[in-house]
Amino acid sequence: MQNFNYMTPTRLIFGKGVVEQLPEVMSNYGKKILLTYGGGSIKKIGLYDKVKELLKGFEIFELSGIQPNPKYDPSVLEGVRICKENDIDVILAVGGGSVLDCSKAIATGAKYDGDPWDLISYKTKAQASIPIVDIITLAATGSEYDPGGVISRTETNDKIGYVDPLNYPAVSFLDPTYTFTVSKKQTAAGCADAMNHIMEQYFCEDSTMLNDGFMEAGFKSLMVNAKKCLENPEDYTARAEMMLTCTYGCNGIYSLGNSPSGWPCHGMEHALSAYYDITHGEGLAIITPRWMTHILSDKTVDRFVKYGVNVFGIDSSLDKFDIAKKAIQATYDFFESINIPMHLRDVGIDESRIDEMAQHVADNERLENAWAPLLEKDIADIFRASL
Ligand code: NZQ
Ligand code: ZN
Repeated sequence: MQNFNYMTPTRLIFGKGVVEQLPEVMSNYGKKILLTYGGGSIKKIGLYDKVKELLKGFEIFELSGIQPNPKYDPSVLEGVRICKENDIDVILAVGGGSVLDCSKAIATGAKYDGDPWDLISYKTKAQASIPIVDIITLAATGSEYDPGGVISRTETNDKIGYVDPLNYPAVSFLDPTYTFTVSKKQTAAGCADAMNHIMEQYFCEDSTMLNDGFMEAGFKSLMVNAKKCLENPEDYTARAEMMLTCTYGCNGIYSLGNSPSGWPCHGMEHALSAYYDITHGEGLAIITPRWMTHILSDKTVDRFVKYGVNVFGIDSSLDKFDIAKKAIQATYDFFESINIPMHLRDVGIDESRIDEMAQHVADNERLENAWAPLLEKDIADIFRASL
């Protein structure tokens, strides 16, 4: 077991109706609020009106139109401008992971004198941030409980995932009823994203019985509950369990003491969604089984056996490599069963930019240090196998 140094400063407020506590929580941070949101889903579900009603006594500024795969220009830059010009006390992010990630970049950018991209690209370290409160409306990224953020810069095809302890939200409201309206496509993609967050921690050199059990339960919870959510979008119990399982995803709690994996599928997927603006969870679901096949070897096979036997109930008396191959197929079949398009061509990606993307990943994601190292050729091979 590896040494670790762990703290999560985020307060989670979970359950039906918890948003009623918003005024009390917001009053801890000041009067001037920047309310951030996306393309309008929060208006359709009545959450925008609810928030405005609850926060009547506050001064509210707004940044709307934050897109999936949130863009540095205009959203981050515009948010930073509003915060600086109006001396904003606290950001209230209402929406999915994209709204929250954009808000994280705004929060540190607003307290920095230079170009906020310096903080996202690790050119320099943020020294301060505006506190963030969020109401998450989509179970997927775990951004509500983690220090990560992912921002896209269209002109350079960059989609950078970066980690900064200042990115932890101060408070996250998790009301599963706000996820009832998430489309089937986004529900399935959210499940695939969270499955992958766990996989990125599970497939490593050194794990513990405790972490393996926690992560295996996470896989099973996501697979069972995603199907229930797809069958009945208003199944509160299923939405609630899916939400919490996703919340744990990128916070590190699933793998305290594990050796690192290098997060290879995320490293590769970020190039796909940077170049083609596809849905992150779909990109991950497509790559993952091909990555698994690519890295299956004497070194990795025992982890696949554990995964196959404990998650999918594959007969443990079979040959190790047979179990591993069945586990990979079961992973593919699950994603297909929740109607995720399972080929890059299905999401509009063809052969033409594969080498360019592979080079971009190899240059920027340090996957040569992953548990199962990936060089540029490996990355290109995985993309080609995913076509
Ligand atoms: O823009 P609106 O109108 O709000 O619609 C959104 C958007 O179109 C919609 N939506 C959200 N809540 C809804 C809803 N529709 C109906 N009812 C609701 N309750 O869903 C669409 C997708 O939203 P988005 O926020 O983009 O999805 P998600 O939460 O999956 O976030 C994806 C982004 O997070 C990054 C991804 O790379 C991607 O950019 N990630 C962030 C991570 C982190 N911070 O830790 C980790 C992840 O690995 C991931 O990379
Ligand atoms: Zn992800």
